[in-house]
Amino acid sequence: MRKLFINIKTLVVGTNNRLAPLRGHDLGQLTLISNAWLYCENGLIHSYGSDNTFKTINADATIDCNGQFIFPAFIDSHTHIVFAATREGEFVDRIHGLSYEEIASRGGGILNSAKRLQKCTENQLFDDAYERALQQIRQGTGALEIKSGYGLTVVDEMKMLRVIARLKEALPIPIKSTFLGAHAFPVEFNQNHEGYIQCILNEMLPNIAAEKLADYIDVFCDKGFFSPLETSRILDTGAKLGLKPKIHGNELGITGGVQVAVEHKAISVDHLEEVGEEEIALLAKSSTIATVLPGTSFFLGIPYAPARRLVDAGAALAIASDFNPGSSPNGRMSFLVSLACIKMKLTPEEAINATTFNAACALELQHETGAIYPGNKANFILSKPISSLAVIPYRFGEDMIESVYINGNRFDA
Ligand code: NIG
Ligand code: FE
Repeated sequence: MRKLFINIKTLVVGTNNRLAPLRGHDLGQLTLISNAWLYCENGLIHSYGSDNTFKTINADATIDCNGQFIFPAFIDSHTHIVFAATREGEFVDRIHGLSYEEIASRGGGILNSAKRLQKCTENQLFDDAYERALQQIRQGTGALEIKSGYGLTVVDEMKMLRVIARLKEALPIPIKSTFLGAHAFPVEFNQNHEGYIQCILNEMLPNIAAEKLADYIDVFCDKGFFSPLETSRILDTGAKLGLKPKIHGNELGITGGVQVAVEHKAISVDHLEEVGEEEIALLAKSSTIATVLPGTSFFLGIPYAPARRLVDAGAALAIASDFNPGSSPNGRMSFLVSLACIKMKLTPEEAINATTFNAACALELQHETGAIYPGNKANFILSKPISSLAVIPYRFGEDMIESVYINGNRFDA
């Protein structure tokens, strides 16, 4: 199918860089084409240009964009959308003064989600996560990462990863799967952390690798969760099985998450609400992408990661939703673009690059998505009437999306 999109007021191409995440000044640079057209063939971007230079193209369908913007679809490089139940009770507990950590230490939090997930069937988990993913696509997300981590037993971690494998088949967007067995210590291992680590190393990981159920490995390396040493051991075994790390680190404390991530050449280290100059400097000279999750800071009322300082120091920055029932029950990327601008002082251009191309790099998808580039998937957003790009973050809480195109098709599900 050959489709020609004409009458585009501004085509936000993104970046022409194909290799590495954008850093420093480059993060603020977006290639824009005014009065543009965009031509797609068989679900892929073929070419684009300005004014009437499309005249020689012979398309099967021509779509009039009515003078609106086209943006690359968002990439959400960190989610936990496979879960069994929402946790609004804990949300109310926090309003009454309990902290996220206090709730977790009483058996709430991740352990609460694990208890619920263990009782839930694979089909039910699939149906619910599928609906969440559809909603995210409608809100402009064109690729996703999804983690396990609410199973915490061999059977239930495998169940979660199988659900993610089915989502990969059922959904029209690229999806990457991350094994996060080391998300919390189950109650029965409260006094025996080593026992659970042995279970991850000797039972979960070999089974998951044998069935090729994960693309990445993650550990919640933080205060009250996994130590850097424990994290290191898990990542070493993961590496032997071909799993590259993406780490949860420095959300609750400065406990060495960034250091262990960089040491293990993690693709990304995510959260970073609690970092000092040492961590920022380390990230600036490493290839590990600093992924910040402003929805989590907003929802939990914890500090925002110092995204501005990370960018200025030269770190590669991505922004993701962390969509999960406990700390960020929302996957709306345009709201995160608003938070990044309002709370983190990123420019709209920086926030868009951090939620598109740099986030694609955080999933090693930069050769197929994250920018309007010939050969990439035709996954993009057609905006509502907007006068400039800055209207996207300015109208916080609204998507300003007229329609979403996935593989060149208008997404109607
Ligand atoms: O990224 N911080 C660790 N894990 C998730 C939250 C998990 C939960 O509360 O269910 C996060 O915020
Ligand atoms: Fe997370």
